[in-house]
Amino acid sequence: MLHVGLLYTKMETSNKNMEELNPHGAIQMNVTVKAIEKALFSKGHKVTLFPATFDLLQRISRIKDLDVIFNACTGITNKRQQANVVAMLELQHIPFVGSSLSTQILGLHKQISKRLFRSANIPTPQFQVFYTGEEEIEKHLRYPLIVKPEHEGSSLGISNDSVVFNEDSLKKKVKEIIGIFDQPALVEEFVSGREFTVGVLGNDDPEVLPILEILYDDKNKDGLMTVDIKAKDAVGIVCPAEIDVEIAEKIRDYAKRAYKALGCNEYARIDVRLDENNIPNFIEINTLPGMQPNYSDFPRMAKVAGYTYEDLIDKMVRLAIEKSRVDNEKKEEFYVGATS
Ligand SMILES: Nc1ncnc2c1ncn2[C@@H]1O[C@H](COP(=O)(O)OP(=O)(O)OP(=O)(O)O)[C@@H](O)[C@H]1O
Ligand SMILES: [Mg+2]
Repeated sequence: MLHVGLLYTKMETSNKNMEELNPHGAIQMNVTVKAIEKALFSKGHKVTLFPATFDLLQRISRIKDLDVIFNACTGITNKRQQANVVAMLELQHIPFVGSSLSTQILGLHKQISKRLFRSANIPTPQFQVFYTGEEEIEKHLRYPLIVKPEHEGSSLGISNDSVVFNEDSLKKKVKEIIGIFDQPALVEEFVSGREFTVGVLGNDDPEVLPILEILYDDKNKDGLMTVDIKAKDAVGIVCPAEIDVEIAEKIRDYAKRAYKALGCNEYARIDVRLDENNIPNFIEINTLPGMQPNYSDFPRMAKVAGYTYEDLIDKMVRLAIEKSRVDNEKKEEFYVGATS
């Protein structure tokens, strides 16, 4: 039996603006936390719930017998703080499930992930970041382009008019996104082929879960995971995707390389689309993917790989403990080496 601290975002404390932009977030968080808690109980673990607050560090340090923390927290009052929360976890000496602070930051900033994909030779759509909306558009970019917030999730800011076909609508949309989300706008070439999502689970030799394809209906032929479609779960999915073996192999190889390039731990989910030459283009990596059973893609893919939800949660906790044990051993070896 392990004593697990379960850390989550208490949505009532979220700011009103965020609640309007992400009206389904609170329900999703509540359902997920209950499901993780139940899964941990079912494996015989003791669970202490920690809603994330600014004095989190003191609250955690008061409990002396925690073995591990399950981090399901998407920030205290906004998503950017997902990284601040992990920063607090790194300051204590308890293993925690999920990637480190540096990885969370690399994953949160889509433009940085994309630069890392490129340096690992993983194809990603051409892009430009707009900070004001007054910038000159780089000549190499080809319409249609998609405009999205540089660091959001849950498809926030994605609607049918996110895809633009000329400079006027591009500038208008860029200014709108910067204004609403208070962050730069990422403009990318729109890759309109089949869309997949890929789960990676593990540390040293991570496992790529069966690839999941997202199927859009005829009304949404080019396919776009808008905020409404995402919240209503209004797409078809096929897992494992029916896909050419060579393309699947490429996606798996790129996924492992992307996971390593960002230094992910335990789990991550990567979004991919095929371009007109059937080349998988990596769109983004989610370093804290949703874990709502029978809804979020990660547990769905894990189920196809043979993990019940309970087994998956238990495995993640054990991976975190093992990672921490190995890290501590390395540190000890280093200090012994340094003093001998
Ligand atoms: N360059 C692109 N080309 C084609 N479609 C894109 C592109 N970028 C984003 N999309 C579409 O918009 C959706 C949301 O984009 P993205 O994954 O970057 O946002 P997100 O809000 O971080 O997603 P998540 O909900 O996975 O956290 C994608 O699933 C895809 O349908
Ligand atoms: Mg995505």
